[in-house]
Amino acid sequence: MLSHRERMSDSSPRGYDRLAPWYQTIERLRFAGGLQRWRERLLDEIPPCRQVLFLGDGDGRLLKSFLDQLLNRGPTSSNLVENIRSVDFSAKMLQCQRKRIARHPLRHKVQLEHGDVLNAQWPTRQYDLIVTAFFLDCFAEPQLRRLVSQLTTALAPEGLWYVVDFTQPDRGLAKHWAGGWLAVMHAFFRWQTDLPTRRLVHADSILKSSGLEPRCFQQNRTRWITSSLYSFAEKPNASDCSRRISSE
Ligand SMILES: C[S@@+](CC[C@H](N)C(=O)[O-])C[C@H]1O[C@@H](n2cnc3c(N)ncnc32)[C@H](O)[C@@H]1O
Repeated sequence: MLSHRERMSDSSPRGYDRLAPWYQTIERLRFAGGLQRWRERLLDEIPPCRQVLFLGDGDGRLLKSFLDQLLNRGPTSSNLVENIRSVDFSAKMLQCQRKRIARHPLRHKVQLEHGDVLNAQWPTRQYDLIVTAFFLDCFAEPQLRRLVSQLTTALAPEGLWYVVDFTQPDRGLAKHWAGGWLAVMHAFFRWQTDLPTRRLVHADSILKSSGLEPRCFQQNRTRWITSSLYSFAEKPNASDCSRRISSE
């Protein structure tokens, strides 16, 4: 059951605008380089693709790593990419993205777009890859269900959805450890950005109910940070990445 606040409010771009210049520093105070390693964790497993959609990439660190990786793979991969559309509703976060990739040889492939994903129009079966890092937890469950349903329609039949996010383990010490930190982070983002949720929404079950299955999956030792590559369940050979990687 959603609280009154969860029903009435949406995250505020102004809050993210305010956070943008400090975002990386605040993250480093708690995680050092840890979250960035998880953002990059499964980049190697992503096969070459033409149409890419990044959502809520914040200050653009994953976008930059993605471009670096394309470049390192050589011209076969980088020439294949036609368009990388990156949508964020914070003008300041987009400014950071623009700055971060300003000198990148592949920047001309990137189209930065200022907009709210909850009001956006998506093409049908267009994207070979959708990327969301620490983004799906910005939404209350009904919003997320609607968004995931729209985006699965936008995903090409053989497409992949790369999700990096926090999860809450369901038992043991890890459950309490993650629960405590997630409560602190939710309180911080509610204060700064009017985040509409008070607890983590289980994006994994929503993605699965939209017909997606994780093809690759890694999680950290304390089981509360995961990197997963999803594809449609009825496309078992959708990617090169059909193995399941166990926790480290
Ligand atoms: C928690 S930050 C995550 C940033 C980045 N992906 C990362 O890995 O740290 C959420 C990002 O999503 C953006 N965002 C949140 N709600 C949005 C919405 N409804 N439409 C577009 N962007 C949104 C914010 O501006 C912010 O850049």
